[in-house]
Amino acid sequence: MQAFDIQTLADKLDRPVALIGMMGSGKTTLGKTLAETLGRPFYDSDKLIEEKAGMPTADIFDSFGEAKFRDVEEATICMLAAGQPSVIATGGGAVMREATLKALLKDTIVIWMDAPVDVLWERLKGCTTRPLLRAENPQEKLRELLAQREKYYAKAHIRIPVQAEPQTKALEKMILALAAQVNSAKT
Ligand code: S3P
Repeated sequence: MQAFDIQTLADKLDRPVALIGMMGSGKTTLGKTLAETLGRPFYDSDKLIEEKAGMPTADIFDSFGEAKFRDVEEATICMLAAGQPSVIATGGGAVMREATLKALLKDTIVIWMDAPVDVLWERLKGCTTRPLLRAENPQEKLRELLAQREKYYAKAHIRIPVQAEPQTKALEKMILALAAQVNSAKT
């Protein structure tokens, strides 16, 4: 894709782009690259929550519970969604809060990074920072979470199928889909 096309796309963006999808789907890594490519700021809702709380996500879950985490997540994402054009990586469970999903769909272009469980598991096995994976069978837990969440992820404006592929490939798919979405101005 030529630099000119990217600039045209960046100029046409009148709202943030929000990445949703399961943990391990590449929202943070690809979000950063997408933001750099578009020349827009990048925000990671988990990181902002951790900075605000002064502790890692797993400790927030342990000390205050998941519901409290979701409260702060909702406030953080609604604030980012209502802001200037940027790229936002959301936490994997953010869409389970109705108000959070509603704000994302209203104020941002939502991209679902849709990765199958085997790709997610390959990336997440051995991970100790995701509190929801501290289960007896973390792979099964991942499968369960995806099954519960799929119908919410599917509300996204754009779905990007993610495979075990080079990041450049996924980035290219995102940019092409975003350009088609912006040009059709259906959001
Ligand atoms: C969660 C995903 C995590 C983080 C928290 C809960 C989830 O974010 O918000 O551990 O419910 O799937 P990532 O999707 O960025 O890993």
